[in-house]
Order: sequence, then structure tokens, then C-alpha cells
Amino acid sequence: MIARTTEGVKKVYQTENDVATLTASGTGAMESAVVNFTAPGDHSLVVAIGEFGNRFKNLVRTYGGHLVEQQYEPGQAADLDKIEAALKADPEICTVFITHNETSTGVTNPVLPDLAALVHSHDALLVVDAISSLSSVEVKTDEWDLDVVLSGSQKGWMTAPGLAFVSVNERGWERAAQTEASQPRFYFDLKRHLESGKTGQTPWTPAVSIWFQLDKSLEIMLAEGLENIFARHQRIGGMVRDGVRAMGLELLADEGVESNTVTAIKVPAGVDGGEVTKIAREEFQTVFAGGQGALRGKLIRFGHLGYMSDEDIQAGLNALEQSLAKAGFKK
Ligand SMILES: Cc1ncc(COP(=O)(O)O)c(C=O)c1O
Repeated sequence: MIARTTEGVKKVYQTENDVATLTASGTGAMESAVVNFTAPGDHSLVVAIGEFGNRFKNLVRTYGGHLVEQQYEPGQAADLDKIEAALKADPEICTVFITHNETSTGVTNPVLPDLAALVHSHDALLVVDAISSLSSVEVKTDEWDLDVVLSGSQKGWMTAPGLAFVSVNERGWERAAQTEASQPRFYFDLKRHLESGKTGQTPWTPAVSIWFQLDKSLEIMLAEGLENIFARHQRIGGMVRDGVRAMGLELLADEGVESNTVTAIKVPAGVDGGEVTKIAREEFQTVFAGGQGALRGKLIRFGHLGYMSDEDIQAGLNALEQSLAKAGFKK
């Protein structure tokens, strides 16, 4: 089953690179990237457009890296020119971390197709957190030459939380060998995962029950076809945006970079966002997320990825509209 699921995951990743499946949530995959591809004192550029970019910053600091931060305003996407300027300003940067789809702000970074060439021209390695995009939104790992790509089972993979994926190309393995002597790693040592995977094993006890789910969900995904999955997410993302705007609400994301997996809606003036999500949960059995970090209380986030039909979206929009009305919102 490990061999079969690895082949399936590689198809969804659109890669021939090695892919390790870890028993961990997505943050474990993020930590594995920091411990395998950076050494203490290495300069790492973290391109942060929200809370999950901030998590990379914390990880780099935790493992003794020299952090170079590039911070964007909530709702903005990353800018290739600014990334280039940061790389030029500090020639010692050897790793760039970026979030593809920022779940906390509902923004998909459009820079990925061109980013690897830029990062490689500065002899740096590119690590992409595609946890809430890959398997729902197109990520062409090989065509875009992405060195390390992370994802997590509970998002578009339609599986319970607990498995995380990491793809690694030749550049990545070279870096892992270079940093091995100076950066301690054990549970998340990707080389151990690769070696075990070759014999149909995992180095540590795998979350078998979740693996069975993954096996089934890959079957469902590959039967639907990647192109159809991406088209469905695009259509559903559009439905949510249209529905939300028709209610007189505003999105956090700048126009043109809105995510097709999660929509971050600004809580309208005079309305208590916590009250809206409470009413939706208790009276309409619908769970919306609030804002994270500095955006706590300011957002209502509507997830629309994975096992999701037009009817589900319509039900979600109805629940949102009625909960808002009960919380006192007038268009
Ligand atoms: C973009 C992104 N990165 C990282 C994570 C962290 O993953 P986990 O919560 O599975 O540890 C998430 C989870 O919401 C995410 O959406």
C-alpha cells in the first residue's frame, strides 16, 4: 500500500522526485524542511503573507537560522521583484521559504511558476508550503522546478489529519547531505524515510488507519482526474466569492489572488464575528473559522476544498447569510 500511495501522491504532485509520507500534521512537514535543508547560522528568506509564513519564521529561529523576513500586508500576495531585491541585498541567503496558499488570509501566491528560476539563479533552495493548495489547486512540482514541496492529508487530500507529504529533488538531497553534520534530525530525517520507503516500510510506526483513507481518497481523486479537480475548485471558489459579494460583504484578498480553497471574509462593521460563527455552528450545523493571529475577530473564513459539491457550497452560503442576519447584519 505504501508503494501504491506513494505513486498516487507523486501523480498529484506532478513529480518524479522522491516523496516521503510522514506521520505528522502539516507543521511536521514544515519542521522537516527546516531540519533537513538548513543549518544553524544559514541565512533563510521567509516570504510571509500571513500566519503560516510566520510559522516558517518561528521554525527558522528555533533551529538557529539567520532569519531574513519579507512581510506583506494581510490580503496581499508576494511580489517577485521584492523577492529578487531581498536576494540581491543578502547574497548569503541559501534557502527561500514561501507559502503557496495562505490559509489565514485566503490568498494564493501567483509567483510560483517563475520563482524557482529566480531562487536558483541566486544558488538558493526553494521550499514551498503547499499544504492547503496541492491536490485542489494546480502545483506543477517538476515543470516549475520546485525543490521541496509540502502538503498535508486533511486538506484537499480528503483524509483525516495526521499524514504529511514532502517532495525532494536532487538539489534538496544535496543540501540535506551538506547540513547533516550540523543540524540534528531524527524523527523527521527525510533520508531515513526515503530509505525505508524503498522497501515498502516507514522508519517509525505509521498512522495505518489514515493511510487506508489516503489509499481510498487517491483512488477517488485519480478517478475524477486532476484537471477536473482543479476546475471544480475554481468553479466553487467563484461561487463562494460571488455569493459573499452579493451579500454585501468584502473579501480580505486583493483582487486576482483570491484562493480557490478558502475565502477570508471581512467581518462587517457593527457585527461580532464570533457571534456569527457561533450561530452558524449551533443553529445551522455549519463550521466557519475565524481569523488567526492579528486577524482574530476580524474575519470569517469559509473553507471549500476537497470533498465538496455545489450543493455543499450553496448550503454554506445560506448558513452564512442567515447567521449574519441573526447577528444583526443589514446589507
Ligand atoms: C498553509 C498551511 N500551512 C501549514 C499548516 C499547518 O498544518 P497543520 O495544522 O496540519 O500542522 C496549515 C494548516 O492549516 C496550512 O493551511
